Amino acid sequence: MTVQPRLDLDAVYGRMRDSLTPVEWKLIVPVVEEIHRLKAERNAVILAHNYMKPEIFHGVADIVGDSLALAQKAVGTEADVIVMAGVHFMAETAKVLNPHKVVLMPDMRAGCSLADSITAADVRALRAKHPGVPVCVYVNTSAEVKAEADICCTSGNAVKIVEAIAAETGSDSVLFLPDKYLAAYVQSQTKVKIIPFDGACEVHEQYSASDITSIRADYDGDITVIAHPECPSEVIGAADFAGSTAQMADFVAKEKPARVLLITECSMGDNLIAANPAVEFVRSCHMCPHMKRITLDNIAASLRTLEPRVEVPAHLIERSRASVERMLSVGR
Ligand code: 13P
Ligand code: SF4
Repeated sequence: MTVQPRLDLDAVYGRMRDSLTPVEWKLIVPVVEEIHRLKAERNAVILAHNYMKPEIFHGVADIVGDSLALAQKAVGTEADVIVMAGVHFMAETAKVLNPHKVVLMPDMRAGCSLADSITAADVRALRAKHPGVPVCVYVNTSAEVKAEADICCTSGNAVKIVEAIAAETGSDSVLFLPDKYLAAYVQSQTKVKIIPFDGACEVHEQYSASDITSIRADYDGDITVIAHPECPSEVIGAADFAGSTAQMADFVAKEKPARVLLITECSMGDNLIAANPAVEFVRSCHMCPHMKRITLDNIAASLRTLEPRVEVPAHLIERSRASVERMLSVGR
């Protein structure tokens, strides 16, 4: 029998004290303790996206990161059970990379407007319209869509992947699906001709350049603005830096701006406060309703019952895994 180290509750609370009052923390201690006990009993690992609420991100997650890190860390985990504290396409990617493990999605309704914007039939129609052009799909897509692609990418590696697949296939253009804003960002960084689709993230498309201008004015220009590349081009143009959620975290840790505005989902800044106590995070964010479906209570319930499980039909596993693994091999 392995004796689990005692959970240091004070240290856990210390990482989220800026977001939760002591009373709120006291109320969730029993479920945090239960999740840690269940993880040990089930030999489970919790993968959590940077947009999870602080009590999940700091309280119960084993691995945190952006979509790229979560896909990388899902490979070769020794756990028998993976709990995806994120959205459905992330759990599907984990399942495709670990078909023999149990992958739990605490709330099956946690979707994504980008994943919903495109179907496998759309990809087949685009291939027919652009014969010979390689297809790169954003990781924010269903396994069915990934199965139709040549490669997939995340916001953290999109430029590198587009250039790699163009070079490998000898093509001067790449179909880049489905996010039109990420496509425009990639186009601004590469000479490869990007053929976009009409998808968008319902959270990041709500920002406008005037949001940034007015906040800069409020602080007399004394603020660093970082935007996610799923934002419209005018927003990225008005920001000081653009990058995936992990690249945003790295930028803040390295550059240590005195004051920062993160143009992305609300929990991102809340989760970075603990590691960057000297940085002032200015709040002006939009919430992803899908990410926010994941709670401590439904994580605990999924570990108790080992349900709901994400399953991917056998005929899609191999083909969608090929796109994900091709992406991972470019990064290696
Ligand atoms: P990242 O890969 O940057 O974490 O983005 C995922 C996502 O869903 C952003 O909206
Ligand atoms: Fe999808 Fe946007 Fe939510 Fe990310 S923030 S999961 S891209 S809807």
